[in-house]
Amino acid sequence: MKKTIIITGGAGFIGSHVVRLFVNKYPEYRIVNVDALTYAGNLENLRDVEAADNYIFEKADILHTDDLERIFSTYQPDGIIHLAAESHVDRSILSPLDFVYTNVVGTVNLLNAAKKLWGSTLYPQPSTFPRFYHVSTDEVYGALGETGLFTEETPYSPNSPYSASKASSDHFVRAYGETYHLPVIITNCSNNYGSHHFPEKLIPLFINNIIHKKPLPVYGDGLYTRDWLFVKDHAAAIDLVFHKGNNLATYNIGGFNEWKNIDLVKLLCKLMDEKLGNVKGTSEKLIAYIKDRPGHDRRYAIDASKINKELGWKPSVTFEEGLAQTIDWYLENTEWLKNVTSGEYTKYYDLQYTKR
Ligand code: NAD
Ligand code: TYD
Repeated sequence: MKKTIIITGGAGFIGSHVVRLFVNKYPEYRIVNVDALTYAGNLENLRDVEAADNYIFEKADILHTDDLERIFSTYQPDGIIHLAAESHVDRSILSPLDFVYTNVVGTVNLLNAAKKLWGSTLYPQPSTFPRFYHVSTDEVYGALGETGLFTEETPYSPNSPYSASKASSDHFVRAYGETYHLPVIITNCSNNYGSHHFPEKLIPLFINNIIHKKPLPVYGDGLYTRDWLFVKDHAAAIDLVFHKGNNLATYNIGGFNEWKNIDLVKLLCKLMDEKLGNVKGTSEKLIAYIKDRPGHDRRYAIDASKINKELGWKPSVTFEEGLAQTIDWYLENTEWLKNVTSGEYTKYYDLQYTKR
């Protein structure tokens, strides 16, 4: 009997990479993608795997417990990889409750569905199945100063409504592990970049704006630092942790790749000018410093030595390689960009997201 894995948020940026990896690498698994198709979910991201025998799509909102009940009783999943979330900090500042609903309440709904299915048995270590894997962020740890790295022991200190909602969901996942012996695992990953990234986040937004010669809005002094990881390396880490990680453990995942925003933007401008055949310096002229994001975390940086030592994971591509691949993908997929920026893709599937 095939093992069944539910992947939530599989139509989004990271989720689509995880679905693609699992569908192609594990024909012996049945992969059920559960996604509400919000503005960030796009089935075009999965065109290349949608016809695979071991892939099923279920359009469902993790806030709707009736849908979850139907899905869990139909598919009886052996594992859950939970990525569905509201994921953009700027949107969380404008609309925090949406983040509480999906990220906190939605996660607890999934935990309850898993608990109902699997009961409260303490499973032996190591054991891949059953497993509830929560994909989280390094932003739960708050902001670093000029030095230091987030480790798995760094206390949670979230500053944005987004990171507060992710921190809260992490706590619930952990609590279900302790209280009900649910076999849970959490990873906290740094900023991802790569193909299929919705152009509201820094890298895809700026690629899109450079293509259309629009201003590049750099928040504040531009000296904020992020640790960038290629999305396929994150998907590979998720695969490894899902199969080899220990229940109740947490693992930090990062790129060993810190960049100040302004340096990253200048590198992006340079690479884009080369790819577009522009005169050197053309895209940098688009840089516009604007008002800072409220509560903007100064610096994130991950100590990924635990996952490296225990599971042997490390990033496979350099930033230069990953960024070049990313830019090439966007330049080859201008139709995708056009569709997501116009909202056109929602019409393709007649699945317009209804705001709660
Ligand atoms: P994304 O915004 O691109 O995709 C989110 C997906 O979740 C979309 O397909 C959306 O339709 C779906 N979704 C949203 N609300 C839903 C709901 N109520 N029910 C069902 N589906 C719903 O996000 P992403 O950047 O791919 O992030 C995926 C996960 O990884 C998130 O949990 C995020 O917190 C985490 N994460 C992201 C990053 C990053 O750099 N993007 C870094 C670390 C961790
Ligand atoms: P973002 O991609 O939104 O990820 P996060 O806030 O989760 O780290 O932003 C990355 C960095 O880039 C962050 O310091 C905010 C900054 N930023 C800008 O300066 N301008 C922008 O238009 C955006 C979207 C982000």
